[in-house]
Amino acid sequence: MSATENGAVEPFDAVDVIRAKRDGGRVPEDALRWMIDAYTRDYVADAQMAAFAMAVLLNGMDRDEIRVMTDAMIASGERMSFAGLGKPTADKHSTGGVGDKITLPLAPLVAAFGVAVPQLSGRGLGHTGGTLDKLESIPGWRAALSNDEMTAQLRDVGAVICAAGSGLAPADKRLYALRDVTGTVEAIPLIASSIMSKKIAEGTDALVLDVKFGSGAFMKDFDRARELARTMVELGTDSGVRTTALLTDMDTPLGLAIGNANEVRESVEVLAGGGPADVVELTVALAREMLALAGQPDADVEAALRDGRAMDAWRRMIEAQGGDPDAPLPVPAETHVVTAPRDGYVTRMDAYGFGVAAWRLGAGRARAEDPVLHEAGIDLHAKPGDRVAAGQPLFTIGGPDDSRFARALEVLEGAWEIGDAEPDRSPLVRERITAS
Ligand code: URA
Repeated sequence: MSATENGAVEPFDAVDVIRAKRDGGRVPEDALRWMIDAYTRDYVADAQMAAFAMAVLLNGMDRDEIRVMTDAMIASGERMSFAGLGKPTADKHSTGGVGDKITLPLAPLVAAFGVAVPQLSGRGLGHTGGTLDKLESIPGWRAALSNDEMTAQLRDVGAVICAAGSGLAPADKRLYALRDVTGTVEAIPLIASSIMSKKIAEGTDALVLDVKFGSGAFMKDFDRARELARTMVELGTDSGVRTTALLTDMDTPLGLAIGNANEVRESVEVLAGGGPADVVELTVALAREMLALAGQPDADVEAALRDGRAMDAWRRMIEAQGGDPDAPLPVPAETHVVTAPRDGYVTRMDAYGFGVAAWRLGAGRARAEDPVLHEAGIDLHAKPGDRVAAGQPLFTIGGPDDSRFARALEVLEGAWEIGDAEPDRSPLVRERITAS
């Protein structure tokens, strides 16, 4: 026991909790809950929490510790509930990738089946784009909704994509910033509890995780991505949220558009029954997972894309948040086309390189407070496996002017290849993880 400055007695000592984890032991539930709570109250210092995070990175946590840690982070803030809606809720979380616009067609597609989708999203940072940045390309659309507005929209339209308020899992916000500067971001128990605390606090009944691996992913290595997916599926299940995960390839950008406005355009193509095959495949696969968890395993997802039901839900979702679904989207004033230097097959388009290039063009931000350029980005005209002839356009970079082109082209050099042999095609969805 130790006493705080104002005389209140603390039931644990941070040093004991740190030592327990440092020496490879389990932290008892009450001590772990206290550690998170005391950190949120500023009783446990950043230096102590950093030491604890490093001990977790080195020695791991068992399934029960991860559940308790997540629950303690949820308890640090508000917990939403959509129990009064009268319909099931299902959400999706992606660990982030290049050209990953799947949330845009997915939310209205699932809503078209009467399942409510409360999608709290973020803005992009670094080479992966943010869903809110993409949607803000639509004139009038607003990301900030009150809880009451969100509930009303879920009732009337069925799908909401909006900004996560700062009230969800505030302990995670602090811990994540600390991990960022102490080399402890990579600890799977900490990543899993960070992501899942926010998703569980959001109050969804069911959750599908799109865990990406490959060059453009946060988790490059497949085995680690699988371990993260398993940990998060267990965590969701243990916390009463029906959870499954798909492990999906992020070595190549998704679809043909990388940016903001161009990704909205591509999403609308998918909602109109067209769009690139990989974007359609992943949208359909994730929609099937969400609908199965919500009690509709036999839903004909493709039919809702073909017959306009998903598009109707999209239009209503955009209009409900002040957007005009018919307004022209911003287009780049300046473009530059890169062409194939010779005949052959496109053998590689590296997601990380294309993601960094789009970011350098202004589609993403370097600091959380920076604005993004909605018209900036890259349009691909060929993907790995396509046969091209010398002089044929491979991709177009664009922006409001050409001032950022040289730096974008610099990183794109070496990010793609043309070879003589047709490359092997790896499956987009590599594995499905369900609760054990
Ligand atoms: N995203 C999060 O929200 N938390 C992490 O720890 C990593 C990615």
